[in-house]
Amino acid sequence: MADRNAGESKILATYRARTKRAAELNRKAREVLPGGIVHDSRRMSPYGIYGDRAQGSRKWDVDGNEYVDYYGGHGSLLLGHQHPQVIAAIQAQLAKGMHLAAAHELEVEWAYLIREMVPSVERVRFTSSGTEATQLAMRLARAATGRRKIVRFLTHFHGWHDHVAGGVHDHFDGSPNAGVLGEVAASTVLVAPNDVAAVERVLAGKDIAAVMIEPVGSSSGAVPTPPEVLGMLRESTRKHGALLIFDEVVTGFRVAPGGAQAYYGVTPDITTMAKILAGGMPGGAVGGPKDILDQLDHEAAHAAGREHVNHHGTHNAHPISAAAGIATLNIIRGSDACAKASATAATLRKAMNEVLEEEGVPWAVYGVHSFFNIYSNPQGHALKPTTFDGGTITVEALKGRNEAMLGKLRIAMLNNGVDLKGWRGGILSAAHTQADVDFTVEAWRKSLRALKEEGLLAGAKGVKAVTA
Ligand SMILES: Cc1ncc(COP(=O)(O)O)c(C=O)c1O
Repeated sequence: MADRNAGESKILATYRARTKRAAELNRKAREVLPGGIVHDSRRMSPYGIYGDRAQGSRKWDVDGNEYVDYYGGHGSLLLGHQHPQVIAAIQAQLAKGMHLAAAHELEVEWAYLIREMVPSVERVRFTSSGTEATQLAMRLARAATGRRKIVRFLTHFHGWHDHVAGGVHDHFDGSPNAGVLGEVAASTVLVAPNDVAAVERVLAGKDIAAVMIEPVGSSSGAVPTPPEVLGMLRESTRKHGALLIFDEVVTGFRVAPGGAQAYYGVTPDITTMAKILAGGMPGGAVGGPKDILDQLDHEAAHAAGREHVNHHGTHNAHPISAAAGIATLNIIRGSDACAKASATAATLRKAMNEVLEEEGVPWAVYGVHSFFNIYSNPQGHALKPTTFDGGTITVEALKGRNEAMLGKLRIAMLNNGVDLKGWRGGILSAAHTQADVDFTVEAWRKSLRALKEEGLLAGAKGVKAVTA
């Protein structure tokens, strides 16, 4: 495949020269791991880097290259890599035992901490991942309301289980993805992002158990949710007797110590959490009020004359994850880590947009909190990068992409020492510094120039960026 093009692209040739060990590992991996990868979003052409170690805001690959890391453990590392207090907590638990197949003290402490931090949480049930958390949240909502369907927003991601597989990257018409049953796909109703009127119409149909949303918008705000939408959804779900689920797998403990619900002052019925929750270790949780979560309690359900909601999981509240989670949440609760990451991200977005203007590239870098998203302007509109507002662009354009060009951008940034989060942007931690921002801005400039040299910035030639 792309191997054959090695001679045609300086960007790819540079990458191959810097990542020989990765190429070798990827050749081996493809014999045993489908596509050579373990997660769809790590798919890269010709191949991705192979990580070796990390510290703070930086990571190193097996070829010895250093990167400013904007993947951040898929968003799980708000404190950066290897925070000493988190590592010490993990080591202390590791020395005592990994899996005791028994209740343990840390799960109690962890749950109390979550309850203290997250407004909607009275009760917590731990899971092993964010995917499991959204699956359980949907089950709890159906059981609580006796209704069948869940409303979701197109492009919003809630993990990979069957009920949420479609409508994110594809199957926007609600048809089932490969391997998913049609009746399961039909059990969710897909609505355009932020279309509260459409939600209202669907809710009037009466069979809706819940509306589920990524509160700052899909893909960490790549398709932004205007904050007022959250309040409107709160009102209309209440009016129609449906539940509101905030999927705070990414935003929880990041947007603010209490998540997006604390930041925007809108309290959902059910909250799903993962990533930062477990401090970089695997783990997830569902939180909510006593009456909804106590459906998991055999005695409470029995007393209420109901069947309890069934839930298992070998690694729920794994002691190592609990140790890492407690250490992480305690630091977040007692510091300005969330605000610091957000402030650094704002500085970075501004500086990257200034480079776009200087280089005459009609793209934009936009986003909220500690995220940044790259808008590559697939329709070639005239725009001013430093005043671009992602909220004014259609979903199709925001999510539209020239994969070949953005794939090269990703590689060019790696060549210049920066690991983006997939093709679309990045996620910052409290460990990122002004020096990281300065470094990244120069890498951005060099990468855009490398793309120009290869004739890949058609927009830069055809449509001038508006600079005044
Ligand atoms: C908003 C959101 N929900 C759910 C998930 C699924 O979490 P996990 O990968 O832990 O299964 C993700 C993962 O990126 C996510 O971004």
